[in-house]
Amino acid sequence: QLPESVTIKEVGPRDGLQNETNKIATEDKVAWIDQLSDTGLSYIEISSFVHPKWIPQLADAKEVAQAIKRNPGITYAALVPNVKGLERAIETEIDEVSIFMSSSETHNKKNINKTIEETFPVLQEVVDGAKQAGKTVRGYVSTVFGCPYDGHVPVEQVLRVCDRLFEMGIDELSLGDTTGVADPKQVDAVLNKMKQNFSFDQITMHFHNTRGMALANVLVSLQHGITTFDGALGGLGGCPYAKGASGNLATDDLVHMLHQMGVETGIHQDKLHESAAFIQRKLGKELPSHQMQVMNRS
Ligand code: HMG
Ligand code: MG
Repeated sequence: QLPESVTIKEVGPRDGLQNETNKIATEDKVAWIDQLSDTGLSYIEISSFVHPKWIPQLADAKEVAQAIKRNPGITYAALVPNVKGLERAIETEIDEVSIFMSSSETHNKKNINKTIEETFPVLQEVVDGAKQAGKTVRGYVSTVFGCPYDGHVPVEQVLRVCDRLFEMGIDELSLGDTTGVADPKQVDAVLNKMKQNFSFDQITMHFHNTRGMALANVLVSLQHGITTFDGALGGLGGCPYAKGASGNLATDDLVHMLHQMGVETGIHQDKLHESAAFIQRKLGKELPSHQMQVMNRS
């Protein structure tokens, strides 16, 4: 019933660092991403070309993208909210562009300053421009399992936003539990609905571990046939424009669980832990993942 292998997409340098108040030097970000490139990961989201005033932590996206060593087997991606961001991204020869929006009105407005309806044409321009430039495009939908402002989000509303993104021409969709409110039963219900509309080889799950449910939600997703997950090393992460958002599903905890269960990831655990220890030192605080807790106490 479990897949033989799973793809993990590392979003720590973006989703992780966007939420950190401790400033990380550009050269340390570059060194960290270079280490991540050596762990066996096949996908790294390295930064974000959003407005630098909105996310000052990632204002050095261009410098980071230009300085990292490119491993040809790895897709390097970055978040892009609009054409202005796309222009900046294209200068760096990033491989993949990630567009993003929410399935709930209030989070969408707080995060990208537009209504849901106003967002579609802005993102369509990004998708068209990115495709012309030969990039693949990932689409994120946030607040899929609930919104910190609007509460319950009807699954029909989520499906409507997902449909529109696929119509725009995205290659892959990542479903975000932005503030970690999902539980396994809800994930089961949402995926049962999703199954009727979408092929699961185009769907990634993006869990946050705010309430400790992320791995349980992964297990249910695996049972549904989902084989791609986003993670942030050490459990870093969160969206500054979602009240109460905290750490992503920790890549190291996910790799541990999958390997224990005999599911391959292609990732070297020792190298992963070394690179987690590196960014922990640079941040000057303990990372929340269970793997890092074990390491810090041994
Ligand atoms: P806005 O203020 O409405 O932008 O922000 P605007 O289009 O009105 O432009 C205002 C000025 O900003 C203009 O300059 C633009 O050129 C400039 P002026 O003409 O006044 O001199 N500008 C830019 N400059 C640099 N780069 C850009 C850019 N865009 C405009 N890209 C905007 C709208 C979308 C830009 C803003 O709201 C923004 O940057 N938001 C990003 C918020 C964010 O990054 N949130 C976290 C990521 S999402 C997330 O974490 C969830 C996820 O992990 C999944 C999950 O967990 O659910 C993905
Ligand atoms: Mg996120």
